[in-house]
Amino acid sequence: NDGDDLGLTGVTAGQVRRTSKLAIVGAGAVGSTMAYAALMRGAARSVALYDINKAKVEAEALDLGHGIQFMPMAEVVGSDDIEVCTGADVVVVTAGAKQKPGQSRIDLAEATISLVGKILPPLVEVAPDAVYIMVTNPVDIVTYAALQQSGLPPTQMFGSGTVLDSSRLRYLIAKQTGVAVQNVHAYVAGEHGDTELPLWSSATIGAVPLLEWNGINGRGPLTSEVRDGIAREVVESAYRIIEGKGATNYAVALAGSRIIEAVIKDEQRILPVSSLLDGYHGIRDVCLSVPALVGREGVGERLEVPMSADELAGLRRSAETLRAVARRFGF
Ligand code: 2OP
Repeated sequence: NDGDDLGLTGVTAGQVRRTSKLAIVGAGAVGSTMAYAALMRGAARSVALYDINKAKVEAEALDLGHGIQFMPMAEVVGSDDIEVCTGADVVVVTAGAKQKPGQSRIDLAEATISLVGKILPPLVEVAPDAVYIMVTNPVDIVTYAALQQSGLPPTQMFGSGTVLDSSRLRYLIAKQTGVAVQNVHAYVAGEHGDTELPLWSSATIGAVPLLEWNGINGRGPLTSEVRDGIAREVVESAYRIIEGKGATNYAVALAGSRIIEAVIKDEQRILPVSSLLDGYHGIRDVCLSVPALVGREGVGERLEVPMSADELAGLRRSAETLRAVARRFGF
């Protein structure tokens, strides 16, 4: 399961610990919390935070460093000099404009595409072999534009995509059914945003297909009405959190750390990350999320998940929306 091993099993190989370096670009709410999550989970032996705000990035690194005694062994540095990212195994890009209440992720496209375009060339220079994980929104558009601008192979750069949305989906299914979230297997595919869709037809609870779930302990099945409500709540989650506290940071940081570990520990884990599709169910030339293998080389095979006609149509709609946005910005 994607969320089961919060412990440190598998991190015992000294080799991994000694050599792994994670660089996080952007020391805002998402970047700093992701550094915290990655340190807590022992994801990398060395964590570098980079931000143009010198005072902020140094303060975040200091605060994180003071907690190392209570975490798996690691070191953390923060700097406004991009050299701090030199030789990273994984670079995570979180820098960018913040979504204001009422704004959609797509509304940020103009500002973030140009920012990421400026950051990438010097980053690729100091960390040419890193696997790049884009988190900045709108993540699918940013990933597509960044691939074009950097010329990196599409295995080496992908977006955090709907890993977070899938954990939101699983959380809500778990709450509805009274089953542990770790026993829910379900993916959100498509855009990380308003056109995303849950893949109900392939979802399982335990080994039971979700669509055949009859309910247990007096709780009923997941009727189409219940499923629609859950799907709506997943899409609206970020809006609700931004309305209440100005940004989302904890769950996205944990989802990011999960992806980082899959790369650094070469886990070949199936995660719904946003990658450049080339004929997936007939979809090409767009970055969006489908379950894919993630390991040390970056994003590998996409899983040909069986989909209902509705799901396939939804995925194609999401692809068309994203392609239209990318085209609007000249990509
Ligand atoms: C989230 O879904 C805003 O993309 C961010 O939490």
